[in-house]
Amino acid sequence: MTFTKSEFKNPATTTLLELVKSRRTYYGLKAESPISDNAIERIVQDSVLHVPSSFNTQTSRVVLLLKEEHEKVWDIAISAMEGLVAAGHVPKEQFETATKPKLNAFRAAYGTVLFFVDYESLAPIKEKFAIYADKFDPFALESNAMSQYLVWLALESEGFGANLQHYSPLIDEQITKTWNLPASWKLDAQLVFGAPTSDAGEKTFAPVEDRFKVFGKSA
Ligand SMILES: Cc1cc2nc3c(=O)[nH]c(=O)nc-3n(C[C@H](O)[C@H](O)[C@H](O)COP(=O)(O)O)c2cc1C
Repeated sequence: MTFTKSEFKNPATTTLLELVKSRRTYYGLKAESPISDNAIERIVQDSVLHVPSSFNTQTSRVVLLLKEEHEKVWDIAISAMEGLVAAGHVPKEQFETATKPKLNAFRAAYGTVLFFVDYESLAPIKEKFAIYADKFDPFALESNAMSQYLVWLALESEGFGANLQHYSPLIDEQITKTWNLPASWKLDAQLVFGAPTSDAGEKTFAPVEDRFKVFGKSA
């Protein structure tokens, strides 16, 4: 498939697509920020407010943790993993040589955004639209993923590197307790961000022809 150069009416479209292309996973991160904490907060808040949700149910809940507060997330994960080692569920050698260094690398970053879904808040709408009842939970997760992507994109647009992690349910209880969060907030993902210390890894792409089709296109 050959793509001809597209002319967009709005230059912001080109900028947006360039950002989409340049967003990557960065694991090498340090505790420095190219922007103010206020600017980070604005990115996260705007994503909470403006990312759509099915029936405008607004099910996403987000917690922004910076510096020492961010480090606590990864201390919780390290201590939870140590518990698994002590219980014989994870080999000590694997923990010491792979898991712990990885968790310490997340800890060395500047911040973590915790993304939650409040499934309990869907109870009234599930009752009202019973025919869709089984769709609302997946819709809520899809909306949450949209926020995750937007925050990832915007933080990297501002010079951060970021990676997306999933340590739930291992860390859920301590996360809820440490920041006194409502019990109905169900953790989905953790976006770790900081100043990049190394490049993103190689990335390969399956042929786009196998993944995309267009019909009815004018020349
Ligand atoms: C839904 C989703 C879940 C992911 N979960 C993890 C994860 O738990 N740990 C991790 O290191 N990377 C995770 N990633 C990152 C992917 O591995 C990564 O985005 C993918 O390999 C493409 O690389 P790129 O982000 O550099 O484009 C996840 C990405 C997505 C979209």
